[in-house]
Amino acid sequence: MIEAHGPSGSLKVAPIVRDDRRVDQTIELNERQLADLIMITSGAYSPLETFMNEADYISVVKLGRLSDSTLWPIPITLDLAEPPLPGSVLGLTHKGRHLANVTVTEIFEALLTEEITSTFGTDDPKHPGVAATLSRGRHLVSGPIALLDEPNDDVHGRYLTPVETRAIFAISKWKSVVAFQTRNPIHRAHEYLHKVALETIDGLFIHPLVGATKDDDVPAEVRMKAYEVLIDNYYPKERVLLGTYPAAMRYAGPKEALLHAISRQNYGCTHFIVGRDHAGVGDYYGTYAAQEIFDGLEDGDIKIQIIKFEHSFFCTKCEGVVSKRSCPHSANDHLVLSGTKVRQMLREGTSLPSQFTRSEVAKVLEDQYR
Ligand code: ADX
Repeated sequence: MIEAHGPSGSLKVAPIVRDDRRVDQTIELNERQLADLIMITSGAYSPLETFMNEADYISVVKLGRLSDSTLWPIPITLDLAEPPLPGSVLGLTHKGRHLANVTVTEIFEALLTEEITSTFGTDDPKHPGVAATLSRGRHLVSGPIALLDEPNDDVHGRYLTPVETRAIFAISKWKSVVAFQTRNPIHRAHEYLHKVALETIDGLFIHPLVGATKDDDVPAEVRMKAYEVLIDNYYPKERVLLGTYPAAMRYAGPKEALLHAISRQNYGCTHFIVGRDHAGVGDYYGTYAAQEIFDGLEDGDIKIQIIKFEHSFFCTKCEGVVSKRSCPHSANDHLVLSGTKVRQMLREGTSLPSQFTRSEVAKVLEDQYR
């Protein structure tokens, strides 16, 4: 089984413990903070065991590495509007549940401008990730986490921890497993990437992101339903696993592609698909910037292997999904498939053609928008 990310190669899973100490201050987590707590404590963000301390934070912002030089692209921090007392116990809650306590050992200021440019490559406040970062508290807090309760309430009934996915991959005897990240309704280009990968890889882990997304993205429960009908009708069930990825979306393009790959290594995947404009938004990133960032890594930075895909589309002459690498026809014969396009057609009430979306999936999406 592939090692977890970081020098020890082991998953850093927080056990659920009792902690009877008095809580000095209660912090109601927002959706992103909750997602980060789930990712850290489940081991999905190994080797992180807490929200970042100042040394790791500065090192990640300036060098894209933790202070011990482990590759880490994006700060994972606990932000507060007002600084707490040093040494105090923060009770982290969400919707009435007391999930964890953090003993404050470090309080430091966010390097907001540097963090934003390093993560997003732009400081445009219209970028959804930049806007979300600008709205955060300026005081960052770190310290050991005592986990009191399972932070993920698994509304979709498909949540799997890295320990669980590793066990499933082992039982399934998959020597190689390719992970697929997505935040969009499934379309035929996605299916094409999956099926090309399945020609050489033993198992496919479809891992849709269900943490916070921007408001015009399709709700996670609808996307999950679409995945279920697609798998039921078109996939070899014994070679596919569907599980929810509880992280929040940052829309950080290349930097987020690195984070997506690192965490999928922690889930036990050996390969990770990166297509066109992975984790992008608007025109902020080059079509293949999220692939190119992997070319600049040093040997040993990550163990998971990246499977890169060119922009894929439906060709009416080829009568199937293809890319420039495999199709000689002109743009006039090509139907471009993208999540943005699917969302736009749904909003306009246009039916999704079968070249775009399988009819079973189209029905799920159209029912939701009708
Ligand atoms: S993402 O924000 O999660 O990356 P999306 O769900 O649209 O968005 O994409 C999931 C994965 O499929 C990403 O790796 C993306 O690059 C890839 N992808 C999506 N559409 C295409 C396409 N038409 N051609 C090639 N790759 C694609």
